[in-house]
Amino acid sequence: MRDTVKELNVDLGDRSYPIVIGRQLLANSDLSAWVAGSQVMIVTNETVAPLYLESARACFPGKQVDTVVLPDGEQYKHWQTLNLIFDALLQQRHSRQTTLVALGGGVVGDTAGFAAACYQRGVAFIQIPTTLLSQVDSSVGGKTGINHPLGKNMIGAFHQPQMVLIDTESLKSLPAREVSAGLAEVIKYGLIRAPEFLAWLEANIPALLDLDQAALAEAIYRSCACKAEVVALDEREGGLRAILNLGHTFGHAIETFAGYGKVLHGEAVGTGMMMAADLSARQGWITTADRDRAIRLIASARLPGRAPAGMTPEDFLRLMAVDKKNVDGSLRLVVLRSLGEAVVTGEADLRCLGETLTAYCSG
Ligand code: NAD
Ligand code: GLY
Repeated sequence: MRDTVKELNVDLGDRSYPIVIGRQLLANSDLSAWVAGSQVMIVTNETVAPLYLESARACFPGKQVDTVVLPDGEQYKHWQTLNLIFDALLQQRHSRQTTLVALGGGVVGDTAGFAAACYQRGVAFIQIPTTLLSQVDSSVGGKTGINHPLGKNMIGAFHQPQMVLIDTESLKSLPAREVSAGLAEVIKYGLIRAPEFLAWLEANIPALLDLDQAALAEAIYRSCACKAEVVALDEREGGLRAILNLGHTFGHAIETFAGYGKVLHGEAVGTGMMMAADLSARQGWITTADRDRAIRLIASARLPGRAPAGMTPEDFLRLMAVDKKNVDGSLRLVVLRSLGEAVVTGEADLRCLGETLTAYCSG
């Protein structure tokens, strides 16, 4: 059933591209018009390949379609895995006109996108995200990269895709824990820029957790619209785009502390957004009622609300010192000025920050 297909544009001048959202798009799309040359390399992983690789191959009739299947997991988002993609491209003699296709979640998307940014100094790529998180966030906006043992996403490049194809039906095979992780990034858009979306989410979280296709399409569309708008205004994160990192400074610290892959990225962001709301209330920037509303919404998506066992405020401060938003060694955080408005600040009060860290580390 190919019913309503929604389309958005990421407006970046001659690098603009569409995001196409709908049901059963993987089984019914011909994407060969998006491939300039004759070669396609589909990058996926060992979990997604048995589910969707054949459908993805069929999206490129008339092209030479090669594939590389990566190990699955955040712990493999490193340079050794990146090299597997380069090995495959060189072994199959892919030229500068090749197009990489990222088929999978954010780990595959970020790694394949970075490979596309580097291979022969930059080739085209297409995003076919198959997790909720990647459909609402990582596939849009051109941030690509890999982790370093000392910090998340520390090695990377900005490289925009040719197009993004989002098949909401592909979420039917996603584990429930991954759906909740994706909802963290969906809720983020309401908190940073779309207060009316927050009210919609409060009414629709149960439907989203049940994978209701109409609710998913609406949430993905609204999320991508918000992200596309921010990216069009500030592609290279000179300022505004940093608000997309609400909760991420705390969240990246949690992911690095736990060991990549132990706490899901979306789970860490969910806890991080609770901490950002808590800090904003302690600073007097939002009311405690608004803080509680934000925390209730995040918790309703079945996301954890505590730092991992054994993590201390000192661990947070040490790990948060390695953050891309920091300037000249001073910590910068995304905080809420109201529900629906986020700003970046270098002026968080250390006492308030300490209280938030202690509150989320205890127990
Ligand atoms: P993920 O890529 O690890 O995918 C989660 C799990 O779901 C994996 O085991 C994957 O194999 C599996 N999977 C994927 N699609 C599936 C499907 N349809 N059915 C069943 N299983 C499926 O995790 P994620 O949450 O998609 O992405 C997290 C990554 O994205 C992190 O590395 C994070 O840093 C990155 N990220 C990047 C950006 C960006 O702007 N580039 C934004 C947000 C997050
Ligand atoms: N996920 C943060 C960004 O794309 O900027």
